[in-house]
Amino acid sequence: MSIEISKIVQALEPSATLAMAAKAKALKAAGKTVYDFSVGEPDFDTPEHICQAAVRAMQSGHTHYTVASGIPELKQAIVADYARRHGLDYKPNQVVISNGAKHSLHNVFTVLLNPGDEVIIPAPYWVSYAELVKLTGAKPVILQTAEAADFKLTPTALAAAITPRSKVLLLCSPSNPTGSMYSPQELGALADVVLKHNLIVVADEIYERLTYGNHRFASFATVRPGLVERTILVNGVSKTYAMTGWRIGWTMSPANVATAMGDLQSQETSNPSSVSQYAAVAALEGPQQCVADMLGEFAKRRDYVKKRIAELPGVTCPDMAGAFYAFMNIGKHLGRTYGGAKVTNSTEWCLALLEQHNVATVMGSSFGAEGYARVSFATGLPVLEAGFNRIAAFLKSAT
Ligand SMILES: Cc1ncc(COP(=O)(O)O)c(C=O)c1O
Repeated sequence: MSIEISKIVQALEPSATLAMAAKAKALKAAGKTVYDFSVGEPDFDTPEHICQAAVRAMQSGHTHYTVASGIPELKQAIVADYARRHGLDYKPNQVVISNGAKHSLHNVFTVLLNPGDEVIIPAPYWVSYAELVKLTGAKPVILQTAEAADFKLTPTALAAAITPRSKVLLLCSPSNPTGSMYSPQELGALADVVLKHNLIVVADEIYERLTYGNHRFASFATVRPGLVERTILVNGVSKTYAMTGWRIGWTMSPANVATAMGDLQSQETSNPSSVSQYAAVAALEGPQQCVADMLGEFAKRRDYVKKRIAELPGVTCPDMAGAFYAFMNIGKHLGRTYGGAKVTNSTEWCLALLEQHNVATVMGSSFGAEGYARVSFATGLPVLEAGFNRIAAFLKSAT
C-alpha cells in the first residue's frame, strides 16, 4: 500500500535553495571542491559571548519548558532593542518568539488567513512565502517588479492588484533574493495605499542590520502614523548574529495577533529551545561589536562581488543595498550551449554551472524571476574569487 499525502502538502514546492545546497553537499561528499554560493547563512561562527551565555543557561538549569511564546527576558530585550534603534514602543505581550523567523511567518499566516484570502507578494520573493501562504488555503498573488526599478513594488502596481479579497501585503526589505531595500519615502508611498485599502502588512525585516554604504534602513511600522496597528514585524537572530542553527525568530504585532500566535504555538511546538532563547538575550543585550565586524566583512565581499559581476559580459545586477545576495540577470546567456548541453532557462543554467564548474547558485525561477541566478556572498573572499573565475570561464565556454 502507498500512503497518500494530503493534497495541500502534495502541492508544496520543496525549498529550492536547500535543494541546491544539498546538491552542492553531495558533490563535496564525492570529493569535489565546490564553490557554494547557494546558502543563505553567514559563514561566521556564533560569537563566543553568545555561546557562553548558552552554556551558563544550561548549567543554571534553564533546560525546561518555557512559556510557549517565549521567555520574558527575551521579549523585554526585543522591545528594548526596537525602541532604541527604531523608536517603536512595543510591549512584551506583543512579542512571540518562535523556532526561527520561518516558523514566525508560518504562525502569522496561519492566524491571519482564511481560505480564499489573498496575500500580495512582490516578486522576486523569498522561496518560502508563497508556499507558507498556500498551506493555509489562502492565495498568493504574485506581483512582478522590474529590475530597472531595483525590484521595488510601486504604489500604482500595488493599488492595481488590490481586490475585495486582498488581506495582506508581504514586504521583505532588505530583500532576499535581490538585496534591494526600500527607502523611507518609498515605504511611505506604499503605506498610503495600505492605509487607504485597509491592508495588513507582514514586514520581514530579518536583514535590517545588514545594510551597505549610504543605504539606511527604516522599519515599515515607523513610516506613517497608524501602521503599528496593522503591521506584523518579523525578525530574528539568524542573520545578524550568525545564529542560523539556534532557531530563534520573532514577531511584533498587535496584542490580539500575538495572543493567537502564542496559542497556536502552544499546541504546535510549545516553546522554542530554552537554551537558544537565553543565547538570544545575550546577543541582543551584549556587545554589538560582533555585528559591526561581520557587517564590515560582508561589505568587502559585496564590493568585490559587484566588481566581478560588472566584469561579466552581458550580466546585469541591481545595487545590493542590504542582505548578502546578488541577483544576476543572466537572460542574455540563456539559449546557448555549455559543454554540449543546451541551456534554455535559469534552472538548466545553474545546474550546468554546478555540474561543469562546481559553482552552486540558485535559479531565479524559484524566486519567481526566470532569467536570473542568485549568488550568496556569505562566504569568504578567496572562495568568491575562485567561484567568479569559474563563472567567467563558464560564460566564455558557451557557444
Ligand atoms: C527573507 C528571509 N526571511 C526569513 C528567513 C528565515 O530565517 P530563520 O528561520 O533562520 O530565522 C530567511 C532565511 O533564509 C530569509 O531569507
